[in-house]
Amino acid sequence: MPKITIEHDCARATEQLVPLLCRIKDISTETSDVKAFRVQTLEGTRPFDCSPGQTAMLAAIPYGECMFCVSAQGEDYLEFTVKRVGTVTEQLHALSIGDTVGLRGPYGNWFPLEGLKGRDVLFVGGGIGLAPLRSLLTWMFAHRDDFGRIDLVYSGSTRDDLIFLDDIQHVWPELPDVHIHLSIYRESEDWNGEVSYTAPYLEQLAFSPQGRAAVLCGGPSLFRTCLASLLKLGFEPDDIITTLEMKMKCGIGKCGRCNMGSRYICLDGPVFSIAELEDLPGAVH
Ligand SMILES: Cc1cc2nc3c(=O)[nH]c(=O)nc-3n(C[C@H](O)[C@H](O)[C@H](O)COP(=O)(O)OP(=O)(O)OC[C@H]3O[C@@H](n4cnc5c(N)ncnc54)[C@H](O)[C@@H]3O)c2cc1C
Ligand code: FES
Repeated sequence: MPKITIEHDCARATEQLVPLLCRIKDISTETSDVKAFRVQTLEGTRPFDCSPGQTAMLAAIPYGECMFCVSAQGEDYLEFTVKRVGTVTEQLHALSIGDTVGLRGPYGNWFPLEGLKGRDVLFVGGGIGLAPLRSLLTWMFAHRDDFGRIDLVYSGSTRDDLIFLDDIQHVWPELPDVHIHLSIYRESEDWNGEVSYTAPYLEQLAFSPQGRAAVLCGGPSLFRTCLASLLKLGFEPDDIITTLEMKMKCGIGKCGRCNMGSRYICLDGPVFSIAELEDLPGAVH
């Protein structure tokens, strides 16, 4: 299989700094601390085009703005899946359908759509980590013939950490050659599925790296343990793709908040292969 190439210079032309006023078209409550917001322009159109993996700054006016990946897009909206963790996300969660938000973007690079063509793709994620994976998953579902088998290994500590559960349990498993492997870490009465940490579950499922790429997205512990498991299963660092998150302010390479070695994550990322991260100080180890 040819090496997967990830574009990194694609975002440099986008220097959109002034937020566009947008309206919340729809809100779905995914878990007790995660909501998905569908956002459109005041004219009712999609704010901009973007590729799976790209990000944008969403503002709760007048409190502030944060970076989010675009978790899905429709004809007349972009979707952002927001975990309530602090000041701005708290304010976003307090908004209702019809309320106004600010939006600037798209920023960053995207998943290597061409490089993944013709391969089986294994998605590994935990909790809110499904948000960036969802953008790529839905793109692949829409271009199903271009890819081989799709597996999603997704987990959370409890059932309440699993977002988009309705899609995961009822919609996606019905799609051709899509295989879902769910687990939670803590046994509970409302769960009769797998109870396991993600990394041992991944090893138990014993995915072959032959003709397969992996896309990994989750918190630091899941990232570290699942990366070790993927390498143990024989995946090459070039064939494991991930997205990086750091605290960001400007999103366009001006404030210096998000640099890692020679890279600005807002401009060069968030999508990298593990092989690339091995050269960035602090990114993998
Ligand atoms: C490229 C990128 C994509 C992202 N995509 C998503 C997404 O799809 N969905 C989502 O819910 N969040 C996403 N985030 C994280 C999101 O931007 C932060 O959760 C948000 O900025 C928190 O803002 P706040 O004002 O609510 O929290 P604050 O009040 O600023 O902070 C609350 C707590 O969260 C910590 N924190 C804040 N930002 C981050 C961060 N980026 N990483 C780790 N810890 C942080 C703070 O240290 C503090 O402990 C993404 C971040 C980046 C950089
Ligand atoms: S967020 Fe300002 S340089 Fe990246």
